[in-house]
Amino acid sequence: MKVVVVGGTGLIGSRLVTTLRERNLNVVVASPSSGINTITGEGLARALNDAQVVVDVSNSPSLQDDVALRFFDTSGRNLLAAEKRAGVKHHVALSVVGTDRLPESGYFRAKMAQENLIRASGVPYTTLRATPFFEYITGIVEEAADGDVLRVSPASIQPIAADDVVVALRDVTLSLPQNRELEIVGPDRFRLNELAEQILAANEDRRTVIADAHAMYFGAILRDDTLIPGDHPRFAPTRFEDWLRLYIAQALAPAF
Ligand SMILES: NC(=O)c1ccc[n+]([C@@H]2O[C@H](COP(=O)([O-])OP(=O)(O)OC[C@H]3O[C@@H](n4cnc5c(N)ncnc54)[C@H](OP(=O)(O)O)[C@@H]3O)[C@@H](O)[C@H]2O)c1
Repeated sequence: MKVVVVGGTGLIGSRLVTTLRERNLNVVVASPSSGINTITGEGLARALNDAQVVVDVSNSPSLQDDVALRFFDTSGRNLLAAEKRAGVKHHVALSVVGTDRLPESGYFRAKMAQENLIRASGVPYTTLRATPFFEYITGIVEEAADGDVLRVSPASIQPIAADDVVVALRDVTLSLPQNRELEIVGPDRFRLNELAEQILAANEDRRTVIADAHAMYFGAILRDDTLIPGDHPRFAPTRFEDWLRLYIAQALAPAF
């Protein structure tokens, strides 16, 4: 089976390519750095020739509102049109839990536009919505830094390890299209400000975290349940504490 991974050089994409190749699938890495561009259309038709499945794990080069919207709208239209022409049997996409509850955020409006294009395309699809990756929580928390203080929302969050997202995407890729959105979440629920405190403590960072219900998250104010999944998510196994311990140990390991 031929699978095209759009964004196959990214955090999720590169790991997904490895795991799909371990299953002996014919995997094409599609990204501008490999000569395939969903914005300009460069190399797209040739990449999709004879492909059964396309997995879209690309991301906008900037999270800025208008750039992200232009990226997901143009990329989504070009990709889905090319898939229709090529007769692709399954479009798999990665989105975010809560996308439909964050219209104040430009980035999430862009993700919603991507999801809507997929639903309207006529190409059989499965959209997997994941919660924020452990790998990006530090960056999200740093956005809240103001001198020695971090003002972070106390909203609930159930983050997930990128490797667990990759396993779920692999399973979706090897299954039939569901023509709906599925959700995958980490095993534990936290408050975002408590996660920020854990990260600072693990890094022996003495800055103070203040819980602030008006703190911004991708340009939006969170309600307690904005980032929480619906009733039937798939639960991933990796716990944040275990991941963080390993992450800190690797960061401290001497380079030989
Ligand atoms: N961050 C989170 O916590 C989270 C949670 C749930 C879902 N997601 C979703 O997960 C997806 C993947 O995120 P990620 O962090 O793995 O992405 P990433 O590491 O930023 O990688 C982005 C990928 O997109 C490719 N790309 C950029 N412009 C492209 C274009 N014009 N045509 C084709 N490919 C293009 C890049 O290729 P080059 O290497 O060539 O530039 C790269 O392979 C995103 O859609 C995001 O919304 C994220």
